[in-house]
Order: sequence, then structure tokens, then C-alpha cells
Amino acid sequence: MITHRPRRNRKSAVIRNMVQENHLSVHDFIYPLFLIDGKNKKIEVKSMPGIYRYSPDLLLKEIESCMKLGIKAFDVFPSINEKLKDKTASESLNKNGVYLKTLALIKKRFPEACIMTDVAMDPYSSDGHDGYVENGKILNDKTLEILAKMAVAQADCGIDIIGPSDMMDGRVGYIREALDDAGHEEVSIMSYTAKYASAFYNPFRDALDSAPKFGDKKTYQMNPANSKEALIEAQLDTEEGADFLMVKPALSYLDVIKDLNTHFDLPIAAYNVSGEYSMIKAAAQKGWIDGERVRDEILLSMKRAGASVILSYFAKEWAIKNH
Ligand code: PBG
Repeated sequence: MITHRPRRNRKSAVIRNMVQENHLSVHDFIYPLFLIDGKNKKIEVKSMPGIYRYSPDLLLKEIESCMKLGIKAFDVFPSINEKLKDKTASESLNKNGVYLKTLALIKKRFPEACIMTDVAMDPYSSDGHDGYVENGKILNDKTLEILAKMAVAQADCGIDIIGPSDMMDGRVGYIREALDDAGHEEVSIMSYTAKYASAFYNPFRDALDSAPKFGDKKTYQMNPANSKEALIEAQLDTEEGADFLMVKPALSYLDVIKDLNTHFDLPIAAYNVSGEYSMIKAAAQKGWIDGERVRDEILLSMKRAGASVILSYFAKEWAIKNH
């Protein structure tokens, strides 16, 4: 005789819904947005169908339309003109530059929105690296000074969450101290805690023209073969004062999300990165998969693994579908 029949809990939609363990909500998402200079510009990222680079005027409109759908958190990334890039990422401190100016504008127009920014040198660096380069090497401590100034300049624009994505050692503590010294105790830090040297970032680098000019990012981003190393990073970020721990990419690193969620009490964020988005879009366009169902399945897998926050290019289309 079969005494245990788990199928009983799957026998109807009502019961399936009743016993569903994880749910997605519009509140889970942070929607990444790409900013370019100019006016009235909306240019699709070739490798990311449905994702655009917006000039400031249209970016404001895009944020407004997302807010109406219930998406209230955004991570804004700038695409910087090649001519403005240099060794020290000086454009990142330019208050009249497109990024800082637009951040201030967004917070003025939508004070209730939660705006996150990226702290790393790559969009502004003539070397295309996240850190300061000397003789082909990425110098950790020299980079920290630059990142701290960048973070304070962004916080001065009124943003809510700083996202250090550079993977330099000690950066969370260094940035925390700089923010506090500048009177920004309330600005949060969502650390890219376990950020892997991944091939899934390529469409993002297309969007920002920010690919490294030489070499790769393996001396600072983590080896995809490792998981214990993520615990070391998480321990350090926690001690240094991070408010959220992020795992990036998400889909191939669900085990890491789960590990961090098991061992640490801070909220865990998953970055469902550009390549994960593009893969699904491409296969769906070919008619090989059902894009919407696959989207929902992978987003749910991130929640199931333990992420409470999901950064995803799918956020808006998910919100439209579930509005
Ligand atoms: C910048 C940064 C990257 C991403 C977020 N911040 C690219 C990189 O590290 O090369 C990737 C996001 C994505 O692929 O969606 N340091």
C-alpha cells in the first residue's frame, strides 16, 4: 500500500496555489537601466532585445512608466563617451556630466523611488577595467580612493543604494567610512559580494561600450569554480558594513545564493545578468523555448535559492504581465 502520495498536493490549481512555497512580487525587483547622453534618444541594445539606452529625458519617462507598474527600484548605469574616459575615471566625479546630473534629476522628480548606482571604474576608464591600471596590473588600494570619491559623488545626488561592483579588497569598509564622513550615514551599500569572472556579462559591456581594453577581469572577479571563496567575501562584506550581499550572475550560481542565505543574516540579492536575459530572448525568438515560462521559472529559482531581491532586465515585462 502507498501511504504517502505527494501528488495529492498537486491535484488542482487551488491546492497547488495553496502549497506554493515561493512567490514573485513586483517588490522583489530592481530594474537596471542604461543611460546615454543627448536628447530624445532611445537606442536598443543589439544583444538585448527589448532593452534600451535612454537619454535623460526619456529615462525619466521610462522610470515613470515603471513606477505605474509598481516597480520602484532602479539601478542606473551610464554609457560614457569614449573621449571622456581616462586612467583615473575622472568623469565619474563630474557633477555636470550626464550620470551625476541625471541621478539628481531622477531623485528630484521621483523622491519616493529607490535609486541604486554602480561603483566601479569601467564605464569611465580608458583601460576598461574596474580598477586603476599601472603596468598592466590592477592596483587595489589606489582604486579604493577613486571608488570612495565616486560613491560620495553619487550619494551627493541623493541616491539610496551604492553598489560597489569592482571586487577590490576592502572596498565596502572604505566606502562606508567615506560615506559616513561625508554625512551619508543613511545611504545603503549593496555589495557585489560574490561577483564571478563570467562570460554572461558581454551584452552589458555592449550596452556600455565598457569591455576591458586588455586582458580579462580574473585577478579581481571570482573563479566560477569556487564557492567557499564566496563565504570569505561575504564574511568580509558583512564585517565591513554591507547592508545587502549580492551574488552575480544568478542562474549558474544558485548554490552560492543558497550558501550565503544559509550562513548570513543579511538580505541576499541575485543579479540576473545580461547574458542570462539574452540567452532566453534569443531562444524564444527562434521559437525554441516559451520565453515567458522560462523567464518565470528562472526568476522563481532565484527566490527558491534564497534571494529576496532580484536585479533583472525582465522586471518590467514581468510587471506588465502581472499588473
Ligand atoms: C561593472 C558592472 C558589470 C555588470 C554590472 N556592473 C560588468 C562587468 O563587471 O564587466 C554586469 C551586469 C550584466 O551583465 O547585466 N563593473
